[in-house]
Amino acid sequence: MANQPQKRKISFSGIQASGDIHLGNYLGAIKNWVALQEQYSGVYSIVDMHAITVRQDPKSLRDNTLRAYALMIACGIDLNKSIFFIQSHVPAHAELAWALGCYTPFGELGRMTQFKDKSAKGEDNINAGLFTYPILMASDILLYDADVVPVGEDQKQHLELSRNIALRVNGIYGNVFKVPEAFIPKVGGRIMSLADPTKKMAKSDDNPKAAIALLDTKDVIMKKFKSAVTDSEAEIVYREGKDGINNLLTIYSIVTGKDIPAAEKEFSGMGYGVFKPAVGEAVADFLAPIQKRFDELYGDKAQLEQIYRENAQKAAEESGKTLRRVYDKIGFVPR
Ligand code: TYM
Repeated sequence: MANQPQKRKISFSGIQASGDIHLGNYLGAIKNWVALQEQYSGVYSIVDMHAITVRQDPKSLRDNTLRAYALMIACGIDLNKSIFFIQSHVPAHAELAWALGCYTPFGELGRMTQFKDKSAKGEDNINAGLFTYPILMASDILLYDADVVPVGEDQKQHLELSRNIALRVNGIYGNVFKVPEAFIPKVGGRIMSLADPTKKMAKSDDNPKAAIALLDTKDVIMKKFKSAVTDSEAEIVYREGKDGINNLLTIYSIVTGKDIPAAEKEFSGMGYGVFKPAVGEAVADFLAPIQKRFDELYGDKAQLEQIYRENAQKAAEESGKTLRRVYDKIGFVPR
């Protein structure tokens, strides 16, 4: 047994393709999807089934899903190290979600702040899927026996719920699920809107200046950074109350690989009029190779199709094993 290769641990995560994927998604999550592939086997997904909790135009959803699929590979998902699939291609997700829903108290879902925020806004279409969404997310994670789940800070509560569901099912039936850990970066876990740095950068923001899309042109990126909201002081330091500057320093620091004190030193004594375009330049330089790779991948639809089909099959194989294990524990007659 001593020679038996150790099974690599699993990193699982997902992203919705309901709008333009932005710098917050990248710095908070995708960057770590990529980094974790060195130590873990990755399993990553474009979660189109999550996206329909909000009404989607069918053509846009299809286009956005394929664009996101190509973009994530351009960001560095390595198909030799990770399985990368489109969620609706793998039926076990919906199947496990049904089962886990029967092990999730109503009250726990009602405490989810994302649901509370959305329903409090009084939007129309507050549907049952929006409420049960965290159960589908738990299914995504638990189907692959994930050890770590790289996400931004806003998903922390959903991760806690996934852990609770796993622990509850394990408590009833014995060891069914691996209990996953969230992996949230200390720097970059919550990138803020450029238009209002007290709010997180979000795909759903109506203000076009709020978010930097990963596929924005250099021109657009520069304009957005130049108009980024800061404060009325003139000091480039990371300090409580300086939300806009803190956010720009955080972004600059991650894309250049310099730490925040080094960035503060570099811009010491300079004005915001110099600092803001410098951050824009750094971001545009950082994104340029990703954009180039995206164009190549997205330009070859036949290849893309082959990749997502193969990967759906691999994901179905892995998740099918877990689903059978769960069904067996629950007491369903084997097929
Ligand atoms: P989504 O699509 O909203 O966001 C994708 C990832 O980006 C992170 N993120 C941010 N990080 C830092 N700063 C921000 N401003 C910012 N905005 C978003 C999110 O935390 C997320 O990691 N429910 C998930 C998708 C999902 C999932 C899963 C994630 C479905 N199943 C299983 C992990 C595991 C979501 O809507 O993410």
